Amino acid sequence: MTCAIDVDRVSFAYDDFRMEDINLELHIGEQKAIAGLNGSGKTTLFKLILGLLEPRSGQIFVRDRRVTRENLWEVRQDVGFLFQNPEDQLFAPTVWEDVAFGPRNLGLEPQAVSDRVDWALERVGMSSFSHRSVTELSHGQAKRIALAGVIAMRPSILILDEPFTGLDFKMVQNMVDIIRDLKQDGVSILFTTHDSFFIENWSDTVAVLEEGKIVFDGPTKDAMRDDRVTRNVGDWGQLRHRLRNPDGRRL
Ligand SMILES: Nc1ncnc2c1ncn2[C@@H]1O[C@H](COP(=O)(O)OP(=O)(O)O)[C@@H](O)[C@H]1O
Ligand SMILES: [Mg+2]
Repeated sequence: MTCAIDVDRVSFAYDDFRMEDINLELHIGEQKAIAGLNGSGKTTLFKLILGLLEPRSGQIFVRDRRVTRENLWEVRQDVGFLFQNPEDQLFAPTVWEDVAFGPRNLGLEPQAVSDRVDWALERVGMSSFSHRSVTELSHGQAKRIALAGVIAMRPSILILDEPFTGLDFKMVQNMVDIIRDLKQDGVSILFTTHDSFFIENWSDTVAVLEEGKIVFDGPTKDAMRDDRVTRNVGDWGQLRHRLRNPDGRRL
């Protein structure tokens, strides 16, 4: 097995949006960024990989197992998915119960469930929140609890949809630390971003989606000089001239 995820000639369509001939590989231990503007199809691609949507044509393999309706449960044990909006994946009354849901479904003994929950909450720095209601969390806290629920399943592959969006810089640092440790444990990681910083500094390879098509896929070191990448990836420095008068003074 060389691929954690293999997307093979996949097409998909909503009424007003098409994804055409998508090919993508995530290798074992690789950290790959999926970049693209809002609406380019990043979340749709992730939903296809997870079997939440079904391709019109083509096929998807997770650790050599074809993703079908019949084996979604096995696939979900391999792949942990952090939604763009963490509020979409928290539903138990308390933080502790929420993180325990997945391990319980694996059929683990109560002590093993408890150990996993405590470990996951510790890892995301949220142990002191275990008895809190999931409805009382800030966005950043909800994101960390959602991630705790994901890592409590000990997945070998992590899919993170805009893991840093909406977080302050301390929370971003915390999230980076957590994900870096997981990568060091051998977890393969696919994450979306539209920020050049994370692509340049934090991915081995990058695939760029533009209007439902992959227009670039390759090593990050080659990417930032390529127009197919830079026209789809924001660099906040580019905004500077818009905030200044022609003479260079701030507006
Ligand atoms: N459930 C849906 N039904 C119809 N169109 C959708 C649905 N979800 C997303 N879309 C459309 O598909 C396109 C890609 O969306 P999405 O995958 O969420 O993009 P991204 O995650 O890159 O911002 C957008 O044009 C969006 O409006
Ligand atoms: Mg999205």
